[in-house]
Amino acid sequence: MANIILVGMQWGDEGKGKIIDVLSRKVHYVVRYQGGNNAGHTVWVRGSKFILHLIPSGILWANKKCVIGNGVVVDPRVLLTEISELRERGIEVAGRLFISELAHIIFPYHRLEDKLKEEQRGGARIGTTGRGIGPAYIDKVSRTGIRMVDLLSPGIFGEKLRVNVDEINRALRKFYKKPAIRFGPLLREYQGYGRRLKRYITNTSILLNEAVNKKRSILFEGAQGTILDIDFGTYPFVTSSNSSAGGACTGTGVGPAAIDRVIGVVKAYTTRVGEGPFPSEFDEEMDTLIRKRGDEYGATTGRPRRCGWLDAVMVRHSARVNGITELAVTKLDVMSGLEEIKICTGYRYKGRIFREFPAGMNVLRKAAPVYERVPGWSEDISKVKSYRKLPASTRQYLKKIEEITGAKIKIVSVGFERNRTIIC
Ligand code: GDP
Ligand code: IMO
Ligand code: MG
Repeated sequence: MANIILVGMQWGDEGKGKIIDVLSRKVHYVVRYQGGNNAGHTVWVRGSKFILHLIPSGILWANKKCVIGNGVVVDPRVLLTEISELRERGIEVAGRLFISELAHIIFPYHRLEDKLKEEQRGGARIGTTGRGIGPAYIDKVSRTGIRMVDLLSPGIFGEKLRVNVDEINRALRKFYKKPAIRFGPLLREYQGYGRRLKRYITNTSILLNEAVNKKRSILFEGAQGTILDIDFGTYPFVTSSNSSAGGACTGTGVGPAAIDRVIGVVKAYTTRVGEGPFPSEFDEEMDTLIRKRGDEYGATTGRPRRCGWLDAVMVRHSARVNGITELAVTKLDVMSGLEEIKICTGYRYKGRIFREFPAGMNVLRKAAPVYERVPGWSEDISKVKSYRKLPASTRQYLKKIEEITGAKIKIVSVGFERNRTIIC
């Protein structure tokens, strides 16, 4: 297999984990390139459910090497918990998990800042996962972040942590009127993490480029979705990293010429967890129905996901900014039994119809969706094994998705298990 970037084309939770799992069988490396434990990727293996937050989903296949790239922000406490939970379930990561020495570290003060900033935003809150992701990336960009490599040098680590703790304590005291963070216990806690994580920390750009030179195949696992991308998403209701395909290169130290394919994962409908505009959001009745059928609850926070129709304007924007070469359509089984399916093809705002994804949140917030209607299907498709055995109207819906995006569908997912997958 070639080197592939896999990205979500909507607001996350498209079913990336399941598709990564299906594709992992044939690759050598699976690599996370951005985000952190805000992600929740669900994979079912022989009747057991795994939710991965930081470790690439490929870890569930024995012998696959997994990399946490430099673009990821790592909460060591969460990572160590994930490692030991996997170990308890018979999956050993030692020798096949590698963490970039350049990856930035999440501290408890980042989680605290995340929470305090959200409280301060009040009605304008983003609805973050509260995992400290935004504040950790703020430190990275403002050049005060602490990286994995620092964990390996106790002296340097202590000095950097002291500066950051002093600064956050000034803000806590003066601005938020909250108790200060204690430096000593925090230092000792993280020194302990450093000792336990040392064996995994390395120069992963060298590792991956050697793999490229040896023609080993790499699967780059996007977290979140393109519409949560810091540049191309519904800013400011986004996450703090480039979840789109470009992030795979900057987030791993592998050059763009090494990439052969970009797979976009598109859910057959749309979901969003957190705040922000959602033009094709269902009415209450449909929302309840699809949430129940699709089990649409956050894999990280457990929050109910908001549900809506497929948004062609958004998905076309996504196909372009990622340079999608092929598609995986997921959760098609959830759409069975609907008489009619709507696809949002434009946004009507102040007498004008927008056919391209608008940059201004005002349009998205106030626009009325323009819908095209296509026939639904009544058959249960969850056991269908080949494309041509799908009902005609299901194939018609899939054809529409290909027309919208200009990309061919290569995978159709009709259930959460590995074998509920149609390879086209
Ligand atoms: P990710 O963040 O993109 O990996 O997606 P999540 O794991 O957060 O959410 C996707 C949910 O849908 C999970 O519960 C999956 O087990 C489930 N899922 C994935 N593909 C399918 C599918 O084709 N059909 C159904 N019914 N469920 C699916
Ligand atoms: P996966 O990889 C869905 C959303 C949050 C919030 C916004 C910013 O499972 O698809 P953050 O904590 O990142 O600062 O929150 O982004 N969000 C996700 N929504 N799936 C995810 O990951 C998400 N990761 C972040 O709900 O709206
Ligand atoms: Mg998820």
